[in-house]
Amino acid sequence: MIEIAIDGTAASGKGTLAKKLAKKYGFVHLDTGLLYRKVANELIVKKKHTSLNIEKYSFEIARNLNFIEIKKENLRSEETAKLASLIATYPRLREILNSKQKEFVGNNKKKFHGCILDGRDIGTKILPNADFKFFIDACIEIRAKRRLLEKNISFLHENDEKCMLQSLIREMKERDKLDSSRITSPLVPAIDAHVIDTSFIDADELLLKVTKIIEGI
Ligand code: DC
Repeated sequence: MIEIAIDGTAASGKGTLAKKLAKKYGFVHLDTGLLYRKVANELIVKKKHTSLNIEKYSFEIARNLNFIEIKKENLRSEETAKLASLIATYPRLREILNSKQKEFVGNNKKKFHGCILDGRDIGTKILPNADFKFFIDACIEIRAKRRLLEKNISFLHENDEKCMLQSLIREMKERDKLDSSRITSPLVPAIDAHVIDTSFIDADELLLKVTKIIEGI
């Protein structure tokens, strides 16, 4: 089974790339951020996110995670992302979610020729022997603009847009800092990763670049 590891910062284009590659090659894909978001969301729903026992609750939720349920929900809010980034610093939680990710790969080995996982520690921790590793990044202003566009808010006043952009930049910077400075499996490119900056290229250009690397063109 061909393994492709894609890591990178928020809104860098890694998720879209992973989906497009999976479609192109017929590989199975797992957005590993969804696992962290799902645990965060459950904590919020169960009103446990401010509890002193938040770590313990997050472990319980993670142990009972069901992959099929995850896809059906909307887990994209910044509140969920922020809490996901915080709980992602718990080593025990990472251990639980790491084994779920490895289990996912193992379960799909016979069904698919390849798997693509995207996240923060795929090339360094989950698939250290991946056939291809990519680390995707872009400048913060461009990533925040992409996030704003994804929100699809029409008729936004120019000043409101500036305000939203500034607050997105702030939130994303905080999250990047937390993700890359944590002790366990921080967000860093694997030494053998292809590092690609998507600040000035779109999703199709990125796909082309990556496809050329994979196919050795
Ligand atoms: O990819 P995302 O924005 O959905 O991820 C949300 C958070 O989950 C991210 O800020 C950090 C955490 N995460 C992680 O620590 N390791 C992963 N492999 C994926 C996500």
